[in-house]
This record gives sequence, structure tokens and C-alpha cells, in this order.
Amino acid sequence: MKITVVGTGYVGLVSGACLAEVGNDVLCLDLNPEKIRVLKEGGIPIHEPGLDQVVARNVVAGRLHFTTDIEEAVRFGTVQFIAVGTPPDEDGSADLQYVISAARNIGRLMTDYKVVIDKSTVPVGTADKVRAAITEELAKRGVEVPFSVVSNPEFLKEGAAVEDFMRPDRIVVGAEDEQAINLMRALYAPFQRNHEKLVIMDVRSAELTKYAANAMLATRISFMNELAVLAEKLGADIEHVRQGIGSDPRIGWHFLYAGCGYGGSCFPKDVKALIRTAAEAGQGLKVLQAVEDANDAQKMVLVDKIRARFGEDLSGRRFAVWGLAFKPNTDDMREAPSRVIIDELFRRGATVSAYDPVAMTETRRIFGDEPRLSYATRPMEALRDADALVIITEWKEFRSPDFSEIRAALKQPVVFDGRNMYDPDLPRNAGLEYFGIGRK
Ligand SMILES: NC(=O)c1ccc[n+]([C@@H]2O[C@H](COP(=O)([O-])OP(=O)(O)OC[C@H]3O[C@@H](n4cnc5c(N)ncnc54)[C@H](O)[C@@H]3O)[C@@H](O)[C@H]2O)c1
Repeated sequence: MKITVVGTGYVGLVSGACLAEVGNDVLCLDLNPEKIRVLKEGGIPIHEPGLDQVVARNVVAGRLHFTTDIEEAVRFGTVQFIAVGTPPDEDGSADLQYVISAARNIGRLMTDYKVVIDKSTVPVGTADKVRAAITEELAKRGVEVPFSVVSNPEFLKEGAAVEDFMRPDRIVVGAEDEQAINLMRALYAPFQRNHEKLVIMDVRSAELTKYAANAMLATRISFMNELAVLAEKLGADIEHVRQGIGSDPRIGWHFLYAGCGYGGSCFPKDVKALIRTAAEAGQGLKVLQAVEDANDAQKMVLVDKIRARFGEDLSGRRFAVWGLAFKPNTDDMREAPSRVIIDELFRRGATVSAYDPVAMTETRRIFGDEPRLSYATRPMEALRDADALVIITEWKEFRSPDFSEIRAALKQPVVFDGRNMYDPDLPRNAGLEYFGIGRK
């Protein structure tokens, strides 16, 4: 199949590369010339494990191409995936300007049948808006060209995106015409060889499914975070509680870790957008509003612990930060708790020396040449002259540190662990003051 992917970000590049991997001819379009230049020169503009090999293999095989040329992109694929960003607007709703502009480009230039697939996370009703935008552009040209609009939300996780795309749990397809459904079946056949994973439904349900999934996961996290705060007050340990409930198959193990708040490009904005969608439909989503409020509060939990230990005025203090990305295995810093925590430390007069295995370049881009933030090339180097260590992202390389070395390196032997990485006895036995989240 000839496939165009509009938007070559985390979702677009992974989707494009994986669709090429199973034999399709794929052209990825992006309006950011820098991204396309990097890709054309054999680089990868994001950090995503295994993606470089898939991209390289398919570029060499001649199945994966990149362009900034909209006309070439519209002409190329019968299938046109829209995988552009849908950032939050000022009122929290999803900003659809990129999706609609991509749809307009298709309508402006298409000359034969297209299946336009919304892969971006978009509010219920967006497929109708995409259809209207294309129809309007065709009308302006005075032509009639057939097309279908399909909703096909993406469930990949950054950090495991290639694996998730190649071996999805389910493939949600919202489509209402036979031609488009058949094409989607053919498109996804290579990804569901051992059992049927396609869940076909109407377009609006598919659009809502994506928000429902992220809202549910965010709810589990905020629930555990609130319980962790309570556990501390009651003298219980949230890790024991987690193990006690996760073993119940009705609950399951996933997304039960208490921490210093969720971030990333999806949960915060999707929770906000769903609350907004509900409000527009005249309904309050009380549970979800609480999920968001709890998360905002949770991003401050580490700062509260630091204030309690070091006082309100942190001038002259230096904190080592391990982990900047919103989660491990990605360089994505969108809505990362580290940004809130570091800003808060600055506001109270402190300086920060940070280490992250892959997100320091992105952090530099965000913080610019902020003199209060320095970067270390190794985790232990970040501890030099620091009053305490603050762990914000649970990278694997932080799992088993030498606690005596940490103790020796820090000016004061204090560790704030925002991801409950350690059995508290281990750092404590090495003479460290250890603060986890909801731990005894
Ligand atoms: N990142 C994730 O883990 C993830 C997972 C599932 C779903 N999603 C959803 O997928 C969508 C894309 O997310 P992302 O993280 O890949 O975003 P991203 O910001 O990494 O990439 C979006 C890309 O689209 C490009 N773009 C914008 N307008 C364009 C246009 N008109 N034509 C061509 N390119 C254009 C931008 O330059 C950018 O490179 C969002 O709706 C997001 O919610 C993301």
C-alpha cells in the first residue's frame, strides 16, 4: 500500500517506520524542515528505543521516505494518516488547528480516492470536522473526489513505541463505510497474525475510546498518589498496599505506582481535553477533575518534603536531580514533573545539577542558558557539592546505586526518591536520610 503519514513526531515516525517494516511504501511529511533534514541525513529527531534501526532498514530498502512537500505527500498515499500534534488550547480543549490544516491540505490537492485516518488523539466530533474541511476545499475547487474519514487512535507508549506498534493489544478503528473498513483490515493484517485485534466501531466511539483509556490510566495513578499521601499520615506503606491490591486480578499490577505525578504529552492534555469535552456537553466529570487536581498537587509533593527538611528558604542550597524526562526511555519533557520541581527549587533560591541519560539536550532547549541549572555527564557527578539528591525519573541505571558513594558525595546525606525506587532500608542502612512517596 502507498501510505502518507502527516506529522513525523513520536506517533507519525513510529507509525510510518513500522508500516514500512511490513512492506508498505511510506512517505512521512512534516512541516518542520529541521526534522526532515535530520531524517534525510540518516538521523532520528527523537529518542525511542529501536526506532533508529527500523527507520534505517526501511530507508535502505527504499520503502520509507521523508518530505516537507505537501503536494508530493497528498499525491503519494491512498491512505493519509494524520498524526500531527493536538496540544491543549488555553481553555484545556484540544487545539485542532494542525489537524484541520492537514485535512485542508488534503482537500486542496487530492485528485483520487483517499482514506483519511485520524491517528492524532482528537475530541469526539473531529472526524466530522475533518470531513467538512476536506469537503469545503473540494467545493472551492469545484471538484468531487471520493474520500473516507476513519478514526484510528494510537495507543503506543513512548519508550516502547516500536514494540507497541508492531504488537498492539488492540487496534481501534472507527469507520462507517465498507470500503474504508476493508482497507483498514488489509492495512493492519500484518500486525495481528495470531489473533484478531481489530475492534471496529462507529467513529465517535473510537474517538472517545482513546480518551477513556488515558483517563482510566491517569485515574489509577492519581488514586495511588492520593493514597500514598494518606499512607504517610497513617503510618502505612503504599508499596505494601500496592502489592496487596495489585495481586487481585480485577485490579491488576499496572499503573499502581505512587510517585511525584504523571506528565508527558498525553495524560495531562487528554485528561484536560476530556473534562472540556464533557463540559461542552453539559456534564461535569467529577472523578476526572479530581484526577487532575490530585496530579497538580502531587507534582509538589517532593518540593514539600524538601521544604520540610531544608526550610522555606533554599538560597545557597544545591540539589542534584536524577532524571528529567517525564518517564524513562524517552527524551520527551512535555509536562514533565521535573520542570515544575526545578522551577520551584529556583523560586526558593536553590541551584540544580541534573543528570538524565537522554533528556538533557531537550532540557537545555527548554531552560535555555539558565545559570542556576548545570548538567552532569554521570549520575555521581551531579552529586558534587549538592545538599541532597532528588530522584524524579525511574531510569534503570538508577536502580542499584552505591549508597555509600552517594552518602560520601553529598554535603548532607539526604535522598528524596520521587519514584520509590528503593527499599528504604538500603539507603538508610548506608546512613542516608531517605524520603520516598507514601513509604514508612
Ligand atoms: N506521543 C505519544 O506517546 C502519543 C501516543 C498516542 C497518541 N498520541 C497523539 O498523537 C498525536 C501526535 O503526537 P506526537 O507526540 O507524535 O506529536 P509530536 O509533536 O511529536 O509530532 C507532531 C508533528 O506534526 C508536525 N505537524 C504539525 N502540523 C503539521 C501539518 N499540517 N503537516 C505536517 N506536519 C505537521 C509537527 O511539526 C510535529 O513534528 C497527538 O494527538 C497525541 O496526543 C501521542
